[in-house]
Amino acid sequence: MPDTDTSRVLVLGATGRTGSAVVKALEATPGRAVPVRASRRGTTVEQWIKEGKDAVRIDLDDPGTFPGALKGIDRVFLVTGYTSAMNHQAKTLVDAAEDAGVSFLVHLGVFSDGRSTDPHFAWHELVERYIAGSRLAWAHVHPHVFMENLLGINRLRDGRMVWPMGDKRVGWVAADDIAAVVAKVLAEGPGTHAGKDYYLSTDLLNGAEVAEALTTALGREIPALVLTPDDLQRMIDAGLDTVPADMDAAYAASTLIWAREVYEGRFDHLAVTTGTVRDLLGREPVHLGPWAAAHRRELLGRLS
Ligand SMILES: NC(=O)c1ccc[n+]([C@@H]2O[C@H](COP(=O)([O-])OP(=O)(O)OC[C@H]3O[C@@H](n4cnc5c(N)ncnc54)[C@H](OP(=O)(O)O)[C@@H]3O)[C@@H](O)[C@H]2O)c1
Repeated sequence: MPDTDTSRVLVLGATGRTGSAVVKALEATPGRAVPVRASRRGTTVEQWIKEGKDAVRIDLDDPGTFPGALKGIDRVFLVTGYTSAMNHQAKTLVDAAEDAGVSFLVHLGVFSDGRSTDPHFAWHELVERYIAGSRLAWAHVHPHVFMENLLGINRLRDGRMVWPMGDKRVGWVAADDIAAVVAKVLAEGPGTHAGKDYYLSTDLLNGAEVAEALTTALGREIPALVLTPDDLQRMIDAGLDTVPADMDAAYAASTLIWAREVYEGRFDHLAVTTGTVRDLLGREPVHLGPWAAAHRRELLGRLS
């Protein structure tokens, strides 16, 4: 389909952080690309349809659901959850997308250099190579750490910012910025974006610096508890820390390996910020301070 026509875009993970923001961003630019919301939950899909929204049921663990969901779809946003199933899910979905005549697929990966050794980064790199080896036109989006993790896996514990990587910095990016980039790439299509990699990293901050930014934004002292990966391992072993319910054990174990590699300096070359939001969207990205102010209630709710 020419890039000027309207495309139907299957948005995987439309109930999740990134996917729901991609739907919103696509709807905010009507005409070029129409989102088709996807969920594995039948009741969610029924509710969307009742509300007059275009929606389909798809279960990434059940390739039998793929042909129906991909019928009439031009472009796909592929996001998988926090599980080790992503390789099987993405491989089978890409095969089905080829068979269904999908013209463009945008994949949400991680901020890596293709040489990752920690498992979940390596899984994403395998998926990217599989997509690149397919007949589909593709673009890969590589976000650094989501600011939204501060409401989940990196939530404040007893009012403190717990940081298990010493003084090491990582990049932070807001989900709305990721979504705005994804939506633009999906809407403009393969003519402009095929074969492109978009790296997203807005603020480079360690735990102490995040705590400082939160203190300023919230007007309330947020101390940092700076630890090592070994300290975190001991806390997990003692049952003092838990992983989010939607993260499987293999992915959770991999996040600890990633933390160790960051702590050991093996990610130092990836501790950078990028100008992708500015270049693609022509505006400043959302920095952590304003993000925290906008999420004040959620952050403070977690302090009480
Ligand atoms: N958090 C970070 O710092 C970070 C950084 C870089 C990359 N990432 C990557 O971002 C991705 C997660 O993005 P997110 O935070 O936006 O996800 P999320 O909020 O956890 O949402 C996951 C979505 O996946 C859907 N899903 C899960 N299993 C499914 C299945 N079997 N079939 C169909 N849909 C399924 C869920 O929808 P239903 O439940 O409605 O089906 C949900 O909408 C992961 O690949 C992660 O590696 C995360």
